[in-house]
Formats: sequence, structure tokens, C-alpha cells
Amino acid sequence: MLVSAKEMLTKAKAGKYAVGQFNINNLEWTKAILQTAQELQSPVILGVSEGAGKYMCGYKTVVGMVNGMLEELNITVPVALHLDHGSFEGAKACINAGFSSIMFDGSHYPIEENIAKTTELVNTCNILGLSLEAEVGSIGGEEDGVVGAGECADPDECKAVADLGVTMLAAGIGNIHGKYPENWAGLSFETLDAIQAKTGDMPLVLHGGTGIPADMIKKAISLGVAKINVNTECQLSFQEATRKYIEAGKDLEGKGFDPRKLLAPGAEAIKATVKEKMELFGSVGKA
Ligand code: 13P
Repeated sequence: MLVSAKEMLTKAKAGKYAVGQFNINNLEWTKAILQTAQELQSPVILGVSEGAGKYMCGYKTVVGMVNGMLEELNITVPVALHLDHGSFEGAKACINAGFSSIMFDGSHYPIEENIAKTTELVNTCNILGLSLEAEVGSIGGEEDGVVGAGECADPDECKAVADLGVTMLAAGIGNIHGKYPENWAGLSFETLDAIQAKTGDMPLVLHGGTGIPADMIKKAISLGVAKINVNTECQLSFQEATRKYIEAGKDLEGKGFDPRKLLAPGAEAIKATVKEKMELFGSVGKA
């Protein structure tokens, strides 16, 4: 059964480790992530962007697929199904479809409007027992065609949003989605420290987990990050494994296109990436 992310993140923050959010894009990715979490006895959050939700035939299809896998694969570790960077309308649609966790990204609204919309969703999620992630200070880079400038969040605004009763808070600290440019200034630990000082026990979320050096990840966890999102790195490992398979001519062995064969190396590569991240984040054995 899907669970809210609240308990796993409260434990992670108290235990000074982080739970990985791995974004899903199809059946093979979802299966690879769930099997790895089960093997490593790690809690896990499956992230679904609005674009990926559309691609996978809508939120209800995603909920059906994930619930089916939990049962058929005998998954017993805590799993949350989480809308990633949801719009206000997308958040409502996922709540109706049966997601167990929602991110409402109101970071592009003026702070008053972000607060008003987040408040409405806090009330709904509380009634239904769902976890809710809010965002302050937009995360840079491109996600689903939306390009953010990359900011450091204002710690006072973070406190105002945390006080609304959200479960977890994503705050921009110089992180961006996708690959980091050569001249990236790194994470602003000063900002993170100030945000944690104002928000106390609130689990903080680090987006753009791809390509952040291990020492920065560890420092971020020591300063209150309890959830780390990874997407691009799984896409890159999937792509590389598939490219090698095709270059070796193995998809051309006379039987035509067989997804079970063509997508298998990519799925194995995702398992390896997820394992590496869970070990780095410290969530192994914490289910
Ligand atoms: P990356 O694609 O950089 O790993 O970021 C993922 C993310 O933050 C999803 O919200």
C-alpha cells in the first residue's frame, strides 16, 4: 500500500539521512526502482512530473501501475507516490487519482499567492492523510519545458510557508535540475543553514540531485536535507546502457523489436544508479 512521505521523512531528518525521490517515466523504471528499494530495504519516493504523468497515460494509470507492482512484486518497504513540481490543478488531479504525496510548486507566484494556494492544499492533504511538499525560491534549470532561474530562497519566506503545516519544504539553495555547468558556484550552505535555523524539524528537500558531488550531498544532509530528488542521472544511465546495447547490434538479431530485451540493459543501469544514491543518502536498511 502506498504511504504518505511524512513518517519516512520525519525519521530521516531525525536520523540524519535522506530518502531518495526517483522520478519514473515508464513501467521499466518503476519496476527497477521498486526492486532496488526492496532489495536494499530502503524507503523510497516515486516522483511523477506532470509531463511524465501525461506520457504514462494519466495519473490514474500511474496509480494503477504502481499499486499493481507493490502487490505483484511483494514490495514491503515504505513507498510514496509523489507528484513532482505540480501545478495547483495538477495537485488536485493527483489527489483525486490516489497519489499519496503531492508537491505544489508555487515558487513562481508572488509569495502571498504561493501561501494562499499552499494553505488550501495543506487542508485537503491533512484531511486525506497525504504529505505535501511546498517550494520557495525556484530551482534553476529546465524541467518539463519550464525553465527556472535558480535562486537562493529567503529564509523568512521559508518559515512562513513551513508554518502553514506542509510536510516538507523545497528551498532553492543554488541547485538546478539537469547537469551542472562547469562554472556552477555550488550549493549555498549558508542559505541552507539559515533556512534550517528558521524551520527547525521541517524535512528540507534538495532538488537537482544529479551531479552534486558526494561531499556536498553529505553536508546538505547534515544541515537538514531529508529528501533528495534524482531524475536526470537515471535518464543518462538508461540512455548509455541502451546505446551500448544497440551499438553492439543486439537488437538486430532477427526477431524484430522486443522491448523485453531492448529495455533490459537500461533497467539494470537504473538499478545501479538508484543503489549508488541510496547508499550515498544513507537510506539503506532504514525501511
Ligand atoms: P535532476 O534531474 O537534476 O536529478 O533533478 C530531479 C529533480 O529535482 C526532480 O524534481
